[in-house]
Amino acid sequence: MVIRILTVCLGNICRSPAAEAVIRSKAAQAGIGVEVDSAGTAAYHVGEPPHPDSVAVGARRGYEVGGHGRQLAPEDFDRFDLIVTMDRSNLADVRRMAPTGARAVIRPLVDGGVVPDPWGKPIAAYERMYDLIEEASDALVESLTAQVSGRRQDSAS
Ligand code: 4NP
Repeated sequence: MVIRILTVCLGNICRSPAAEAVIRSKAAQAGIGVEVDSAGTAAYHVGEPPHPDSVAVGARRGYEVGGHGRQLAPEDFDRFDLIVTMDRSNLADVRRMAPTGARAVIRPLVDGGVVPDPWGKPIAAYERMYDLIEEASDALVESLTAQVSGRRQDSAS
């Protein structure tokens, strides 16, 4: 079984490409099948690579951060099982853009919190961004692992 996950921020160049890479890496380590992509609610940076600070700080922590900016599209709500957002305005925007009857579950990456936007801020903001993303991704992968093993037990009985 493959779980399809989309990470979403505003510009799709700082936070969501970082979260995409972290979730992919942690899910692989946990041995769960995922496909992870990222998108922005805005079109400002469509076609651009991730921000150099997101790439550099990620690389130092062992993540390969890549891809090109794209904007969230209506089809994403059916293509993905789970859409995770970085802050409250992303969450509100994604919910507003969701077609009625959308399949994807929409939730914040940080339960009850936010990953602040580091764009235009010093490198320390990117380190903090990764600290928050890594902690939340550990929790996400743990809950996905529990879901997947629950389903395996259901299908075996
Ligand atoms: P992101 O950061 O949403 O984490 O990719 C931003 C990148 C660009 C802009 C805002 C946030 N911008 O206004 O261009």
